[in-house]
Amino acid sequence: YRTKGEMVITCRAAIAWTTNAPLTIEKVEVDPPKAGEVRIKVNINETFSKHELPFPAIWGHEGAGTVESIGEGVTIIIFFVFSLGDKVLMFPLPECRECSSCLHPKSNFCLKESILPPTGLMLDGTSRFTCRGRKIYHLYGTSTFTEYTVVHEIAVGKIDDDAPMDTVCILSCEVPTGFGAVFNIAKVRMFTPGSTCVVFGLGGIGSAVVMACKASGASRIIGVDIKEEKFPRARTLGVTDCLNPQKLKKPVQEVVVEMTGKGADFAFEAIGLIDTMVATLESCHPSYGVGVIIGLAPTNSQLIFDPMLLLSGRTLKGGALGSESCIPKMVTDYLQKKINLDPLITHTLPFESINKAFELLLHNTQTFIIFNLCSQKY
Ligand SMILES: NC(=O)c1ccc[n+]([C@@H]2O[C@H](COP(=O)([O-])OP(=O)(O)OC[C@H]3O[C@@H](n4cnc5c(N)ncnc54)[C@H](O)[C@@H]3O)[C@@H](O)[C@H]2O)c1
Ligand SMILES: [Zn+2]
Ligand SMILES: [Zn+2]
Repeated sequence: YRTKGEMVITCRAAIAWTTNAPLTIEKVEVDPPKAGEVRIKVNINETFSKHELPFPAIWGHEGAGTVESIGEGVTIIIFFVFSLGDKVLMFPLPECRECSSCLHPKSNFCLKESILPPTGLMLDGTSRFTCRGRKIYHLYGTSTFTEYTVVHEIAVGKIDDDAPMDTVCILSCEVPTGFGAVFNIAKVRMFTPGSTCVVFGLGGIGSAVVMACKASGASRIIGVDIKEEKFPRARTLGVTDCLNPQKLKKPVQEVVVEMTGKGADFAFEAIGLIDTMVATLESCHPSYGVGVIIGLAPTNSQLIFDPMLLLSGRTLKGGALGSESCIPKMVTDYLQKKINLDPLITHTLPFESINKAFELLLHNTQTFIIFNLCSQKY
């Protein structure tokens, strides 16, 4: 395979200098990829949240781009067969395809996920970014708010040449997480045709969960969110009943149990709060209900619930990035019109408006916000 680009590239990136300050678009130097790494020309980015990581940093953990150069000893190409110029998606959860998790057909939580802990550095303990003479930290081994980034080969997957990057970029993380929770973890379709599902949180992931529940034949989908602005869109995606826990006279799980008779067949937590995780479990039917945790709880938090909830037969599960390696296949499914991603994308903004996107994220009914780093269309 060919390598290119021994050179440092200077390009634009959005830098988070410190907590609670707007990002600034700056010139950064991006080093060539080291062993086992690839440098990607990032074309498209998508939604994000703020992260508590070392500063200054380049955020963004989801994006699509093309391979600009390949470091020494990149071995994974045996499996993923990419070369210069190929279209790729970057994943925040790597797939080494060698560890026991990757080799098992039912799991995807790669044991090399040591990329994830918040060191802000590549696996060799260094950074590839410099700005104004300062070292800039990475995010989850991805860092996509930049025109060029360097990622580990195991965090990149080749996608179809004709995939439109401005849509399929949402398959980097959140959509496979939501779809996978329904298809692979809960297995909604397989167990219960015409089932009842509850979705806690109607943001990006929750919206994908709703679509997947509908596609799995759920006849009733109860959406729970404290922002009622989310309800009209959620209904168009498949939610049949909307609940705002802040407007209810009793705990939302009690209302769900009443609405469903004995509890829902499936409940999904797509918020990341302990209380709603307990509510998810308590919303499930006592003997066959399945609760799935997708949200990321605050660091060091503990989930405490009455074990009798499980004794009667309920199941509590969880998973990351859809729990099976399915991302490049989902791109193909999109191209073949087996899944429709278009209704999930609510905004497309130029890179310069990155701070406006943070505002939208806080105050609006956004689901996915896409950033164009280039003026061309892909
Ligand atoms: N498991 C995985 O692989 C994985 C991958 C990516 C993200 N996540 C996590 O999933 C969670 C959801 O991500 P997202 O991008 O959809 O977030 P989001 O911010 O787009 O959506 C969260 C939604 O929850 C609602 N909400 C907040 N507090 C609530 C409450 N108390 N009751 C009801 N609704 C409430 C918000 O109004 C919002 O609509 C986050 O914790 C994220 O870190 C997990
Ligand atoms: Zn692995
Ligand atoms: Zn994500």
